[in-house]
Amino acid sequence: MDLRVVALMAVVLLAFFSGIVAASRPGGELYIRPKPRKTLWLPWRPRHSSDPQQVHISLSGENHIRVSWMTYDGSSLPIVDYGIAPGVYSSSSSFGETTSYSYLLYDSGKIHHVVIGPLKPDTVYYYRCGGRGREFHFKTPPARFPITFAVVGDLGQTGWTATTLDHIGQSEYDVLLLPGDLSYADYMQHLWDSFGELVEPYASSRPWMVTEGNHEKESILLFKSGFQAYNARWRMPYEESGSPSNLFYSFELSGVHVVMLGSYTDYDVSSDQYAWLKADLAKVDRVKTPWLLVLLHAPWYNSNYAHQGEGNRMMAAMEQLLYAAGVDLVLAGHVHAYERSERVYNGVLNNCGAVHITVGDGGNREGLAERFCQPKPEWSVYREASFGHGELKIMNQTHALWTWHRNDDDETVKSDEVWINSLASSACFASRMPDLRKILMAP
Ligand SMILES: [Fe+2]
Repeated sequence: MDLRVVALMAVVLLAFFSGIVAASRPGGELYIRPKPRKTLWLPWRPRHSSDPQQVHISLSGENHIRVSWMTYDGSSLPIVDYGIAPGVYSSSSSFGETTSYSYLLYDSGKIHHVVIGPLKPDTVYYYRCGGRGREFHFKTPPARFPITFAVVGDLGQTGWTATTLDHIGQSEYDVLLLPGDLSYADYMQHLWDSFGELVEPYASSRPWMVTEGNHEKESILLFKSGFQAYNARWRMPYEESGSPSNLFYSFELSGVHVVMLGSYTDYDVSSDQYAWLKADLAKVDRVKTPWLLVLLHAPWYNSNYAHQGEGNRMMAAMEQLLYAAGVDLVLAGHVHAYERSERVYNGVLNNCGAVHITVGDGGNREGLAERFCQPKPEWSVYREASFGHGELKIMNQTHALWTWHRNDDDETVKSDEVWINSLASSACFASRMPDLRKILMAP
């Protein structure tokens, strides 16, 4: 039998059993989730093979945007025309790359990534991809505060996903942050395509900055290394931030330094990711970027039974670096519920530690993680198993407003709200700065 057919059969079995694995919790006890909504099936829309599809944008260095899209013929041009008036393209760029990949019996289309800019802040740009087809538009982030981030993890492509995206689309956000688990394709590559189509109205109009979750891995022992589809489709600015891998990187905008970490690539003290993180945090200038955020997939502070303790090893390796750098917020996914902590470090309350927030509640097909551990840990402030999304509005150098919006059926309800003061403006940060810097600067 053809090796690719054997591998495909193995993948089908893996995908079938992955739901069972995801529905069990430590100790082997069956974890019962509430009813998820059905996976969406997008209507087939016939298009010319050169027409751009699955268009999305991301930040790519200061004042630049990377435009990504797919076409299904070999002759389409990797070029983006753009300007500040509809239909008037005063600039164009072909700076970028075109790639593709094969995964078992699936062959992707041509995946184009083109960087445009420099662009003006807080400005609407109109653009088209490949010199033809539909016109899109996006707004660039502001140069300075206030800036608003939409934050959602474990998105998937179900009826709940559509509701969450609708709520996000109604908000006034500048950049979307996604801490892993995007499409839930789980080896079925055409589901990456349908996910790209589903999110295109949102991801083509605001920068989407993502990091990977376990559902992006899609590795097959001795046959496929991990993250092939994710890396080809969701190209992030890793080279721009000195990272050797698309699986971890950082970016800066509007007074905020954002670090995107990888929960499923090496993170111990001898790893590339650890060395890069330490160097990246040491370079952060808190005068230029008073706010410091970190995103990762598997939460370090989680009082839900689901995925309990899965972030512990990464936390043991890296939490001290984040503490030394004065990270304000750590945003995670993976657990299909919402949870917000007090400022915490090393398992106990600490005014100089980070606030940890889990928002793995975007709407995936696996449903919610309803059961929380009792008693509630001292560091846990608010926890609830509902679908929804978060918004972080950073008002100025010192104050930010975090809100969590529950999907109450198809309505959005602001259910958690807290003002957060930046650590850079705090007394604890200023007094401990020399000692903290020693940790980051040590060889
Ligand atoms: Fe996950």
